[in-house]
Amino acid sequence: MPVIKSRIKVDSDKFKDNKAYYQTLVKQLEERVEQAKVGGSERARTLHKERGRLFVRERIEKVLDPGSFFLEFNPLAAWDMYDNEVPCAGIVTGIGIVSGKECMLIANDPTVKGGTYHPMTVKKHVRAQEIAQENRLPTIYLTDSGGAFLPLQEDVFPDHYHFGRFFYNQAQMSAMGIPQICLVFGLCTAGGAYVPAMSDDVVQVKKWGCIFIGGPPMVKAATGEDIDAEALGGPDVHCRISGVSDYYARDDAHACEICRDIVAHLNSVKHNPLEMQAPEEPAYDPEEIYGIINKKPQEFFDMREIIARTVDGSRFDEFKALYGTTLITGFAHINGYPVGILGNNGILFPDCAVKGAHFIERCCQRHIPLLYMHNVMGFSVGSKAEREGIPKHGAKLVMTTANAAVPKFTVFVSGSIGAGNYGMCGRGYQGRLLFVYPSSYCSVMGGQVAAGILTRIKTDALKRAGKTATKEELDKLAQETREKYDYTAGPYFSTAHLYDDGIIDPVETRQYLTAGISASVNAPIPDTKFGVIRL
Ligand code: COA
Repeated sequence: MPVIKSRIKVDSDKFKDNKAYYQTLVKQLEERVEQAKVGGSERARTLHKERGRLFVRERIEKVLDPGSFFLEFNPLAAWDMYDNEVPCAGIVTGIGIVSGKECMLIANDPTVKGGTYHPMTVKKHVRAQEIAQENRLPTIYLTDSGGAFLPLQEDVFPDHYHFGRFFYNQAQMSAMGIPQICLVFGLCTAGGAYVPAMSDDVVQVKKWGCIFIGGPPMVKAATGEDIDAEALGGPDVHCRISGVSDYYARDDAHACEICRDIVAHLNSVKHNPLEMQAPEEPAYDPEEIYGIINKKPQEFFDMREIIARTVDGSRFDEFKALYGTTLITGFAHINGYPVGILGNNGILFPDCAVKGAHFIERCCQRHIPLLYMHNVMGFSVGSKAEREGIPKHGAKLVMTTANAAVPKFTVFVSGSIGAGNYGMCGRGYQGRLLFVYPSSYCSVMGGQVAAGILTRIKTDALKRAGKTATKEELDKLAQETREKYDYTAGPYFSTAHLYDDGIIDPVETRQYLTAGISASVNAPIPDTKFGVIRL
C-alpha cells in the first residue's frame, strides 16, 4: 500500500508557530480534565475518605485488568454548567477490559452532590448504555447515588431519554444477552433501586450499599416506622432475606473482586470478523499534527497530512484521487484494523458527494469500518451548484452515511459546518463514537455568515415597519452573534453538552480509535440496506 509523502516543513516558522499554539490548547485540555477528575468538593472527598470508602476512579481501577487502557467518555461533561459544581457530570463512563473482556463501566461519583443525577448525568448514563448496546458490551453499574437531583426533576424524570430510560435499556440489553452487572456501593433509592433490581447479577457492599424503594424518611412519613438505611435495605436484608442481591461484599475492594469473577464466567467469546494486519506506528510523528492544523481555522491544510500521522505506516490506498478532490477517500489500517477513511479538504461539491457515496458502498459491501475526518465548510452553494443538482448529490452522501451498517467513527479535526456535518457522519448519524480535537468547531454555519444573515433580517424587518436600525445596533447584533457562535461551536461547549464522546489530544487518536474499533466488533457487522438513492 502506498505511503503518503508528507509535504510539511517541520522547520518552517509557520509550522513552529502553529505547534506552539496547539500545545497551549492541549495544555488547557489536560488541565481541565485533571481538574474535573478530582471529583466533588474537598469537604465531600474528606468525608468519603474518612468513611473508608474508595473513590470512583479507585473502584474503576480495581475492576479493570491491571494496566489496561480505559476509554473514558466525556470527562468534561457539564463543563462550565451548574456553577461548575458537577465535574464529569458526577458520573464516570467508559470502556475497559475486565477479566480479558471489553465492558462498559457506568460509575457514580458520590462526592459530587451525593452522586445525584443532573440532566447531563442522565444524558451521559443513557449515552453509555447506547454505546454498550450497539457494541454488545457487558455493562457494569457501579452505583452510589442519591438518585434524581431533586431541584431539577423536570429535566431528569419525565422525558423519553430521562431516568426511566435507564431501566428500559437494561431490559432491552438483558434480553439481547448483554450481561447487566450491578455493584451497589452506596444508595440505590426510589427509581435508583431498579438499577440493581433490573440487573442479571447484583453485588452489595456491607454497611454502605443500600437498596430501597422508599428511604428511611419516606418510610417514617408513610408508615411511622423508624428504621435506619442499613436495616431497611442493606445487604443483610437483600442477600439473606429478600434475595434482591446475589453477592455480599465485605467492602468496596471485595465488590470489585467479585465483579471480576462474574465477568470471568460470562462464557462469551469475541469473534472479530475483520482481516487484520500486523500493527505498525505511522511513518510520521503524530505530534506533528500540532503544527499542521492552522492557528487560523480558515486557512487550508491537507487532511492527508493528518491521515499520514494516524494510520499504520502512513500507508493509504487512495480511491479516486483525481476526482472530487476536496473529499479524500481511501483504505488504511489503524493498529492492524482495516478502515475506510473519508476526510475533507474543504467544501463538498457534487462530484465529492457522489465519490463519497460510492466509497461508502464499497466499505459496506466489504464490511469495513468507516472513519470520517472533518474539516468541512458545508456543501457548495450558488446557481451553478443548484443546476448541477447539489441537493440530490449531497443526499447520496447523507443517505449512504445514514444507512451504512458498518461501525462508523468520526473525528472533528477542524470545522464541521452545515450539511457537511450530516454527510460526514455528525452526531445525528449514529456513529459508534465521535471524538473532537481541541481545534474543532461545529455549527450550522460560520459565525460571520450568521451575523450577516441576522443583521439583514433585522434591517429588512425594520424597513417594513418604516424604521431603520442604527449602525451601532447592527454592529452590536453582529458582534453578539459572532461571540455566541464562537462559544457554542467550540469543543468545550460541545463536550459539556455531550454532543461528542470526548475531546481528545490528536496524539491519542490512534489509541482511542483502536479501542473503539476493537470494542465495535463485539457486535456482528450486518449487511447494509440503502434507501432510495436519488440518481
Ligand atoms: N437531590 C438534590 N441534592 C441532593 C440529593 C438529591 N436527591 N441527595 C443529596 N443531595 C446533595 C446534598 O444536598 C449535598 O449537597 P451539597 O454538597 O451542596 O451540600 C450533597 O448532595 C451531598 O449530600 P450529603 O447528604 O451531605 O452527603 P452524604 O454522603 O452523607 O449522603 C446521600 C449522600 C445521597 C446518601 C444522601 O444525601 C441522601 O440520602 N439523599 C437523598 C436521597 C433520596 O432520597 N433520593 C430520592 C431521589 S429519587
